[in-house]
Amino acid sequence: MKFKTHISIKDLNVWYEKHQVLNNINIDIPDKKITVIIGPSGCGKTTLLKSFNRLIDLQDGVMVSGQVFVDGENIYDEKIEVTHLRKKMGLLSQRPQVLPMSIYDNVAYSPRIHGLKNKKKLDELVEHELNEAGLWNEVKERLSGPASKLSIGQQQRLCLARGLAADPEIILGDEPTSALDPISAEKIEQRFLDLKNKYTIVLVTHNLRQAKRLADYVIFLYLGNIIEYGKADEIFKNPKYSKTKDYLNGKFIEEHKIDKELNLKGTVCPDNFVKTKVALEELEVGQVLRIIIDYEQAVIEVPKTIEYEGHKVLEVKSINRTDWEIIIEKRNDGEI
Ligand SMILES: Nc1ncnc2c1ncn2[C@@H]1O[C@H](COP(=O)(O)OP(=O)(O)OP(=O)(O)O)[C@@H](O)[C@H]1O
Ligand SMILES: [Mg+2]
Repeated sequence: MKFKTHISIKDLNVWYEKHQVLNNINIDIPDKKITVIIGPSGCGKTTLLKSFNRLIDLQDGVMVSGQVFVDGENIYDEKIEVTHLRKKMGLLSQRPQVLPMSIYDNVAYSPRIHGLKNKKKLDELVEHELNEAGLWNEVKERLSGPASKLSIGQQQRLCLARGLAADPEIILGDEPTSALDPISAEKIEQRFLDLKNKYTIVLVTHNLRQAKRLADYVIFLYLGNIIEYGKADEIFKNPKYSKTKDYLNGKFIEEHKIDKELNLKGTVCPDNFVKTKVALEELEVGQVLRIIIDYEQAVIEVPKTIEYEGHKVLEVKSINRTDWEIIIEKRNDGEI
């Protein structure tokens, strides 16, 4: 592939304790293009993305070998300054993480840290970045209002604006639209397309249609190995390997088709159990409900009770340290 390389990965291996999750990764990521990482759940996409800005090796029990060159500099070199490196990269995660302060202060946060005090310059910068993130018109009347009052889709665009205000070269996104409604997701997608002339963008997504819409280059990762890497249109039209073909044809069925989703964050038992039951009642037998829970006890209690009522719990998985998702198939259609 002929392009200008921005990030170059050489013989990268990553272990969590004794478990190797990335095997000998060698790739070059092009400058000012969108590269999309796809692959089944647990194949190492997040790990690979986090290895680009050293968010990975700071965790206990993680071992990294190999090199990652950003602008020709090995970021795993002992001499490298991690804060300087992070400044080059903005990271968007699945759920937007706004700072507990006003909309304005979120965007002004990084420039202020780096010494910008001039009010007029800060005002201009905040407006510019909010425009870049496609949010200005929606928030210009309430810049001093709390960021947490924005919708999730707006919060994600605010995170993008905050990231851009740090003047990065690279934007990393780990499923940045998966928690958003389709309209908000489209707005974020459009921002990526507009921003790729100025930034190198690397995105993880589970959504193949989104990958097709956005990707210039695609990395297909499977069990910690790069199976295929190349131009998006070539991989989507004409994958070289059967594994890639299978994945693109939906043959990996580890992802459940969800018919209804219920966010129960902030509720406790028995409320979350009752709400789950009501949601299941609205479904037909065989349909699937996903609930999101942040109450640890419920992660054990809700599946037990629901199974007792005859439904099938397909999966209980932790999204992060505080949130879990439980996927339930409706089985019984009445009293048992
Ligand atoms: N902090 C950790 N400690 C131990 N194992 C981990 C840790 N983080 C991830 N893993 C394991 O490493 C493997 C790769 O995880 P990773 O999160 O990179 O996968 P992924 O492709 O992003 O999955 P998903 O699509 O579900 O987000 C998985 O088997 C996962 O269980
Ligand atoms: Mg992931």
